[in-house]
Amino acid sequence: MMAVMGSAGRLIQFARSSVSLTVRKRSTAAALAQAATLETQENRKPKTGILMLNMGGPEKLEDVHDFLLRLFMDTDLMKLPVQSKLGPFIAKRRTPKIQEQYSKIGGGSPIKHWTSMQGEGMVKLLDEMSPETAPHKFYIGFRYVKPLTEEAIEEMERDGVERAVAFTQYPQYSCSTTGSSLNAIYRYYSNRGDRPKMRWSVIDRWPTHPLLVECFAEHVRNELLKFPEEKRDDVVILFSAHSLPMAVVNRGDPYPQEVGATVQRVMERLGHCNPYRLVWQSRVGPMQWLGPQTDDVIKGLCERGKKNLLLVPIAFTSDHIETLHELDIEYGQVLGEECGVENIKRAESLNGNPLFMKALADLVNTHLKSNEACSRQLTLRCPLCTNPTCGETKAFFASQPTT
Ligand code: FES
Repeated sequence: MMAVMGSAGRLIQFARSSVSLTVRKRSTAAALAQAATLETQENRKPKTGILMLNMGGPEKLEDVHDFLLRLFMDTDLMKLPVQSKLGPFIAKRRTPKIQEQYSKIGGGSPIKHWTSMQGEGMVKLLDEMSPETAPHKFYIGFRYVKPLTEEAIEEMERDGVERAVAFTQYPQYSCSTTGSSLNAIYRYYSNRGDRPKMRWSVIDRWPTHPLLVECFAEHVRNELLKFPEEKRDDVVILFSAHSLPMAVVNRGDPYPQEVGATVQRVMERLGHCNPYRLVWQSRVGPMQWLGPQTDDVIKGLCERGKKNLLLVPIAFTSDHIETLHELDIEYGQVLGEECGVENIKRAESLNGNPLFMKALADLVNTHLKSNEACSRQLTLRCPLCTNPTCGETKAFFASQPTT
């Protein structure tokens, strides 16, 4: 709806700038008519539904506990001993600490806000790019907060969507993130013993999409310009992605390689303007995690005299707790000061960048035209996977009719 109001506003503004009164009246009438058409389109039954999958984040402090509870109960994300007991226990214990973190970033996660804005931009472009699959409507399917994936599917079914696209908002595939969301879609149907009324397909990864790469490169360039000119060449770019337990990496999860692919393309786009490293953040608990850890790298570089650092979140496209709290506050402010950095900055997340919306629309448009149910890569289970649902999910998506 915001997009419709924005379009109407622009059209009306255009009408106001017309020179003659007659033209002004005509333009205004045309503008209002077009606005009405757009509004009707908004209310029209969507032909194509695009389900934007992500983990989500608590919008309010009182949502933190339920968010953590769902997260610690997600057996696709982690396996805990006696998970039905330990999951709720850990969720409850961690709630106050996580609430404190959210209170420092404004009281909640902005991910729904950004996802809605991206979705609106994307479907508006798609209606123009692909009239044969229009009207398009986006749905948000979060894994751990509302709107939950299952609720979004119900809404899509109610809306009478014919063609459903499960579109992961994680550019790089991990069984812990995208895999978990896809398993949720599969379970939705298998628990009900129902076949989908909609024809499903999936965009399961897009680590090297040219417009995604361009967006990241643009945000890096913009941030580099904020360093003092005499220091700019000395800046080390640290691409920071959420880490994974080594147990997940060692079963053959494709995420580390795909994050590396994004970094490689972005640096190529930037003409390798600065030295860089791919580093990993957000480790929790006593297990071994994929490293080097972002905080250790910041310390290590400062000790070695490299004190101008640019942090770039590379595996998540919208702001969330790991950018706004971990990167900006824990590392950018507290750790940076402890280590005596000269300048530490963080590239903006892609959030409301119109080029990013174009990237999303291009991905869906290309996908719809390809008639592919999913990528070839999705059909292969991790070589050491022990989760039977993964195999069932892959078979579910791979067997969807393609025309
Ligand atoms: S854990 Fe990767 S396919 Fe099951």
